[in-house]
Amino acid sequence: MSELKLPDIGFGTWQLKGEDCRKGVLYAIDIGYRHIDTAQVYKNEEFVGQALSENTISRKELVIATKVFINNFKYKKVKSSTYESLKKLKLDYVDMLYIHWPAISYRLRAKSTLKAMSELVDEGKVKHICVSNFNPKSVEKAIKLCDKPITANQIECHPLLQQKELREYLSLKKMYLVAYSPLIRGNLGRVEVIKELAEKYKVSMAQVSLAWHISKNVVPIPKATSKEHIKDNYKSINLKLDISDIEKIDNIKMEKRMLNPPKFIMHPGW
Ligand SMILES: NC(=O)c1ccc[n+]([C@@H]2O[C@H](COP(=O)([O-])OP(=O)(O)OC[C@H]3O[C@@H](n4cnc5c(N)ncnc54)[C@H](OP(=O)(O)O)[C@@H]3O)[C@@H](O)[C@H]2O)c1
Repeated sequence: MSELKLPDIGFGTWQLKGEDCRKGVLYAIDIGYRHIDTAQVYKNEEFVGQALSENTISRKELVIATKVFINNFKYKKVKSSTYESLKKLKLDYVDMLYIHWPAISYRLRAKSTLKAMSELVDEGKVKHICVSNFNPKSVEKAIKLCDKPITANQIECHPLLQQKELREYLSLKKMYLVAYSPLIRGNLGRVEVIKELAEKYKVSMAQVSLAWHISKNVVPIPKATSKEHIKDNYKSINLKLDISDIEKIDNIKMEKRMLNPPKFIMHPGW
């Protein structure tokens, strides 16, 4: 199995649908993004697939990720739903296949869910097995149950939910931390330090937040609709914050989780 090399930033697609999704993904790839994140439950895999089939970058330069949703955790469903995702994405394989949430249905079937994912790797349909919304304890368990490496954990992470414990844990395990909602879902303006730093560096607040993630070896996957936002976010790969400014963000005391899972999903508990 080849090693996964994730670029500094990826492109999130939750809530992008239809033409917005197709055009957004196409433009993102055009300006340099190489990692595209979707999920079965986003109901946009076919639009991502349209964009992928129109773009001219070679397949092996792209990292395409999708996620198996909680109603598909049975052994057979993991497989059939992934084949369906591949069909929609118009791909022979995905680079990253995530377990989307550690729901009750996952807890019941963890071993067979991971077995099916492992077989998808053997079949060449998936390159890397990944998890999402897992706390250290559930990552540890998945590692024990799976006969292949778990390559990444995708979780909510931003200046108001800094995930220090998970960052340290995943770094020890040599796993990627992929950060969702890295722009606090459009709420960066609430954070005074981010505003001040944006003024200091003469860049957007989004760039400051994304540059902070990159400084922590975390891979942010911001979602954006307009070309202006998509481009602005990509520019963050060239923004180097001074150590003292990174520390200012590290020292933010306010905490806010943007995504509180419904009852049928196990609460992440971190
Ligand atoms: N694994 C999971 O359970 C999970 C959960 C949530 C999200 N995700 C993934 O993570 C991705 C990102 O998270 P997210 O969509 O929750 O939130 P986000 O990326 O933190 O924020 C998206 C919001 O920020 C706005 N925005 C984007 N670029 C901007 C810029 N340069 N300046 C100002 N505003 C900007 C967007 O507006 P416009 O769209 O109008 O540009 C949108 O309202 C998702 O799309 C999805 O792929 C995964």
